[in-house]
Amino acid sequence: MADEKQRYSMYDLIAKKRDGGQLERPELAFWLQGMLAGSVPDYQTAAMLMAIFWRGLDEAETFALTEEIVASGEQLDLQGLTGVTADKHSTGGVGDKTTLIAMPLAAACGLKIAKMSGRSLGKTGGTADKLASVPGFRLDLPEAELLRQVSEVGLAVVAQNKNLTPADKRLYALRDMTATVDSLPLIAASVMSKKIAAGAQVIVLDVKYGSGAFMPDVDSAIKLAQLMVKLGQSCGRRVTAVLSAMSAPLGAAVGNALEVAEAAEILRQAECAPVSADLRRLCLVLAGEMLYLGGLAANRAEGWRQAEAALQDGRGWAKLLQFLQAQGGDTAALEAGNLVQAAYILPIKADCAGYLAPVDAARVAEIVQFLGAGRERVEDEIDYQVGVRFHKPAGAWVEQGELLADFYASSLLRAEAAERELRSILQILPEPPQLEPLIWGLLDEHGQARPWAELINQQ
Ligand code: URA
Repeated sequence: MADEKQRYSMYDLIAKKRDGGQLERPELAFWLQGMLAGSVPDYQTAAMLMAIFWRGLDEAETFALTEEIVASGEQLDLQGLTGVTADKHSTGGVGDKTTLIAMPLAAACGLKIAKMSGRSLGKTGGTADKLASVPGFRLDLPEAELLRQVSEVGLAVVAQNKNLTPADKRLYALRDMTATVDSLPLIAASVMSKKIAAGAQVIVLDVKYGSGAFMPDVDSAIKLAQLMVKLGQSCGRRVTAVLSAMSAPLGAAVGNALEVAEAAEILRQAECAPVSADLRRLCLVLAGEMLYLGGLAANRAEGWRQAEAALQDGRGWAKLLQFLQAQGGDTAALEAGNLVQAAYILPIKADCAGYLAPVDAARVAEIVQFLGAGRERVEDEIDYQVGVRFHKPAGAWVEQGELLADFYASSLLRAEAAERELRSILQILPEPPQLEPLIWGLLDEHGQARPWAELINQQ
């Protein structure tokens, strides 16, 4: 980060952005340095964030902001590892356990993965929270141990290192409190600075859109993906983005231990339940894309085939166990199928026959948070055992009395309120509903948005 002592006035920089001006790199560096050193107070950073929210940042400003955020802290040096290093990032969603499935598959096929995952402030817990539901699992490996594990096992997942991108941490906390999270350049700079600092050569993004995501529709998701792919490429990384819907929860389970259990089921069974089929397909696409971008597969179809083979022959499942155990995880309960141990497991059955309507991701997230699976403040405790598990996919025909979902609660009081809410979103229709495909397509390495049907035909 350039040293920019007192050359600028923060007041003038805020006014410049407020009036639609372009911030130069040294001005951005002055702001971020001052914010971290305490010479720029939070109220000025909050005002700057609001000015950026309304006025935006052009590409040059976004690139400079990203690089200055990277320069605000340490970077993970993966260059000593043999092989291709890869990472993935999802822009977030309800029931998103793709890391727990796609990463073991990609590592089983030869990629080297050192993944940093956040403890989420969201309603349903981040990947780090999901992994913390495995007894004994350590998220805090020191760097030398992390690198050794990646070298020996091919995969390690740790909590976000506090020394990486400290400017993002501060900015994100302030954005969260000032209604400035939903800004395209701020999201792109935040995500890509962390990915770049984490050091991987190959980065596959999963950019979500819909009611459970930041981006409301596919067009805005494509814009975000284009910016992030360009940002990564400008820092010398190979980057593409899968574009996928997040209007309904991903897969069957929402809740920390429940999601780890679903990931394990998908990896250990050649066939999966219809309710998990979309999730399984997305994980194969993400793992295959990493293999293709990493040069381990000649084309995308070959990447998907390799990932599918690792799933079918059990290498993905073996890799998940190996990586959990390497980080101190006791996998006995997971292997025995009883990781989830909630006090109350209550069924919801269909009260008439018909077609199951898609459930709304944002409302499921609220129910699961109410049950205790997410946190509102960083210091909040999470209940790993609670959540919801759906048994039927949207659009399925169900008979009266058939089991639609179970929900897992630790208190009867909460269970009763959650049950009412869940019943109100599980609707049965007389006609089959219109279903949105999970995967829209890909933003490829040339910045082209390619719908899925076109991709399949060209492979
Ligand atoms: N995830 C991030 O890491 N940053 C954002 O700004 C939004 C989602």
